[in-house]
Amino acid sequence: MQERIQKIISAAGIASRRAAEKLILEGRVTVSGKVVTELGTKADPGKEHIKVDGKLINPRQPKTYIMLNKPAGYVTTMSDPEKRATVQDLLKGVRVRVYPVGRLDYNTEGLLLLTNDGDFANLIMHPRNELPKTYLVKIKGVLEDKAARDLERGVYLEDGKTAPAKIRKVRKEEANSWIEVIIHEGKKRQVRRMLERVGHSVIRLKRTKIGALTLGALPIGAYSHLTPAEVKGLREMAEGKKDEGRRAKDERRGKIIKSGAGGGRGQTHAVARRKPETGGRKRAAKKPLRHSRPRR
Ligand code: URA
Repeated sequence: MQERIQKIISAAGIASRRAAEKLILEGRVTVSGKVVTELGTKADPGKEHIKVDGKLINPRQPKTYIMLNKPAGYVTTMSDPEKRATVQDLLKGVRVRVYPVGRLDYNTEGLLLLTNDGDFANLIMHPRNELPKTYLVKIKGVLEDKAARDLERGVYLEDGKTAPAKIRKVRKEEANSWIEVIIHEGKKRQVRRMLERVGHSVIRLKRTKIGALTLGALPIGAYSHLTPAEVKGLREMAEGKKDEGRRAKDERRGKIIKSGAGGGRGQTHAVARRKPETGGRKRAAKKPLRHSRPRR
């Protein structure tokens, strides 16, 4: 079956759809020996040889979804021209090619998703879907209530105002303190810049949650395969948000929307350990799922 080349490349776990488009534009992709630089080009992965940087891609890899507890001091790429440690170095034993879903800064720790499922990566990363991301942050000094309120309402950064956030004070430690920050966007170094904007430098930053998926007790530097329920939960939450975003847009345009259509806000999912998700895409269930419990 003929498919767009960027879709074939991302389905083979080489790169996200957007990164695959870049590979095509850079002339690094060939189809049966010919360099392809047109983004709309289609090919049949069953009949034609598709190569990236001269290496034949394998479009039939099992879908793989991984959660890594990234330590500070690792770059969120699979290879680094500066030869720094990469998240790839922590994936010993993973036999398929996966790539990061979004990124964490070099010095940020915590939950990083990796997959070879391009559709899933696009869904989770798309800014319109606004999946909440939860960070535990150690800051210099103690956050005043006024600063917390400002952060919650949105602060001006050089690339625009941040969307509403949630702030929770966690604990104080002599001259420093810990707070929890929940944001729905992914601007570059967003949490660090938000805190700097209200006068606090960040000492430690760790992502603890994406949607309802939590790191739990996964040790630093370790990874685990997501369960089918976890993958489904993330997908449903992102799809719910997507529908919500569309509804809001349609409402703004004055269209009549039936109440109750599409996914709901704040759906959570069970995280019971089961066999890893390796199958294809599943349809989103309409009902909200059960509450999650922490990973042990
Ligand atoms: N915000 C940051 O400042 N850095 C990250 O890595 C993630 C969110």
